[in-house]
Amino acid sequence: MAAVVPFRISRKYISTITCTNGRRLYSSTQKNSVLTSRDVRRMFIDFFKDRHQHRVVPSSPVRPRGDPSLLFVNAGMNQFKPIFLGSVDPRSEMARYRRVVNSQKCVRAGGKHNDLDDVGRDVYHHTFFEMLGNWSFGDYFKEESCAMAWQLLTEVYGIPPDRLYVSYFGGDERLGLKPDRDTQEIWLSMGVQPNRILPFGMKDNFWEMGETGPCGPCTEIHYDHVGGRDAARLVNGDSADVVEIWNLVFMQYNREADGSLRALPQLSVDTGMGLERLLAVLQGHRSNYDTDLFTPLLASIHQCSKCPEYRGQTGQSDVSGVDMAYRVIADHVRTLTVCIADGVYPGMSAAELVLRRILRRAVRFSIEVLQSPPGSLARLVPTVADILGDAYPEVAKETERIMDIINENEAQFLSSLSQGRRVIDRTLQRMDGARLFPGSIAWSLHRNLGFPLDLVSLMVEEKGVAMDTETLLRLAVEEEKLKTEAQASDTQSCTQLDVLTLTELQNKGVPFTEDSPKYHYSLGKDGKYAFLPCQATVQALYCGQALVQEVYEGQRCGVILDQTCFYAEQGGQNHDQGYFTQDSQPDVLFPVEKVQLVGGYVVHQVTATEALRKGDQLQLFIDEAQRLACMVKHTATHILNFTLRQLLGEEVEQRGSHVTAERLRFDFSIKKPLSTQQLQEVEKMMQDIIKRDEPVYAEELPLLVARAIPGLRTVDEQ
Ligand code: SER
Repeated sequence: MAAVVPFRISRKYISTITCTNGRRLYSSTQKNSVLTSRDVRRMFIDFFKDRHQHRVVPSSPVRPRGDPSLLFVNAGMNQFKPIFLGSVDPRSEMARYRRVVNSQKCVRAGGKHNDLDDVGRDVYHHTFFEMLGNWSFGDYFKEESCAMAWQLLTEVYGIPPDRLYVSYFGGDERLGLKPDRDTQEIWLSMGVQPNRILPFGMKDNFWEMGETGPCGPCTEIHYDHVGGRDAARLVNGDSADVVEIWNLVFMQYNREADGSLRALPQLSVDTGMGLERLLAVLQGHRSNYDTDLFTPLLASIHQCSKCPEYRGQTGQSDVSGVDMAYRVIADHVRTLTVCIADGVYPGMSAAELVLRRILRRAVRFSIEVLQSPPGSLARLVPTVADILGDAYPEVAKETERIMDIINENEAQFLSSLSQGRRVIDRTLQRMDGARLFPGSIAWSLHRNLGFPLDLVSLMVEEKGVAMDTETLLRLAVEEEKLKTEAQASDTQSCTQLDVLTLTELQNKGVPFTEDSPKYHYSLGKDGKYAFLPCQATVQALYCGQALVQEVYEGQRCGVILDQTCFYAEQGGQNHDQGYFTQDSQPDVLFPVEKVQLVGGYVVHQVTATEALRKGDQLQLFIDEAQRLACMVKHTATHILNFTLRQLLGEEVEQRGSHVTAERLRFDFSIKKPLSTQQLQEVEKMMQDIIKRDEPVYAEELPLLVARAIPGLRTVDEQ
């Protein structure tokens, strides 16, 4: 392994780091001081804020809101997806973003960007990491973003340019995408040596958020830890010596559900730099685990273990896998702490299931490899909070609660391990000499008890029996197929206007839908609600992914009206049911199947029972009983939220809700399950409140005004 030649940020650099208004971006009284993670994060934000007028936006929680295509937030751009797609509510604050900077908590442990399997094996992959990013939404493009990145790295952080390599998109003939010569020229004009500007294909230089969504060619900046040589051939070569540190994506397309690429109406920039890797560079380490984001954690892990200190070995030099175990535990406990602080708990579905696997993997490494006693994992949480709490205060707010959740899940795992062992033993006895362990039993242990599959295989193989991997694989594939089908059926809806359609609607001057008539109802003296009728004009029809003038009998389409009394799915409440009639044919009903709000337009999905044209006059009728049932249950979620907090304390946090006419679901976080007695108390208190029959107030206000109302609780939406 070649020696790492660290460089230090010298006073020469530090003294020149001032911004245009004269305020210092960084100052240090220490000669040759090494930047800490806090310094590096702050310098990044200040550089874009002070020198380049970017607005600072806080990290969003790691649980993506309103985006079923993602398990976890996996990039800084996720919270801005509606801007790229043009579906952002034009009345929202976000619609005004042009230049933005942030430091985002990201988890890559599932879905398209999944680093779980690499964690621990190498020294630069993580399930949780921080992404420093800057964005332009229809503002600057390639030239400015390359120049800003180069200035920050070489002038502010003081990285010698001869340690850097850049890559650009070399094109893809099959997809008809040309090489990104503009970017190649930009780097050349900035003085980067031609042999350090390297073309790569789709895999490395075309970034995509997921199976669908915004994407585009990118240019990456790579760093050579060794220096004093030509390391071009090691770029993108999976070497710990030459690592990618910054990715600048030029968002130009949307990947559609059918796999095609459609051009986005505005050009944007989305950049992301992993803080952990940058820090390793700036602190002169090859391994992220040698930076101040990890060293205190590794020391805490050592205190609980019966093993020697962390020595940073990988592969075959890591005899008995002790160093890998250190890295896995350090990485996973950061992920667990951040996720639990954001309300994703280890559990049985989607992101929760992934988190449960992460917890169980960490517990196994802790107990089996480092021989730490149960409870050791949770004891690391305060150290994580010390390291990250400054940048993300929510992580430091409830360390005890996070520790309790980790401990409870660890105890559950240890007990299901013994249960699983018994199932394996019984199955082996019943097999009566057969040499293939049933894949269905292994899958059931994995799916229902959270038993790691590799552990089942290991235990079975120890008894000289092979695993029926064919069945196991088939069951895994079947589950994946069911998930994909569920996702696909969602994308076939006619209410999901894409960015091009939204832009077309705006260019044609179609006004956003006036939806205040949904609140036009009153409570009569007889105690019954009366809903006012609503008349509307068809402004646009969306059919087969295009805007059309007319739809015919049997066609499913999205109908956009000038105004509507239909409640679009929002705030956890189901959309209204009901129907339209045409003024010209009042006896023909158009049942409304779905109603959604997209980029300021309320889209009603109907399957036309007769021809329907742009300009048609309609009468709208909602199913009043269904609306009323939803209203009642929606109010009940607020009463339930209030009651839970009254009885169980401030630790109760709403995580979501779903209201239909038939039932309500209220998701909340709490340390322990409620006892029967507590449930009875909640019920009683709710019934008392309902009996008091107090008035319900509803009003739409700007977010900032709403947040200032005393006693009002919010669930943060992205
Ligand atoms: N979205 C890009 C990435 O995740 C740049 O931020 O790499």
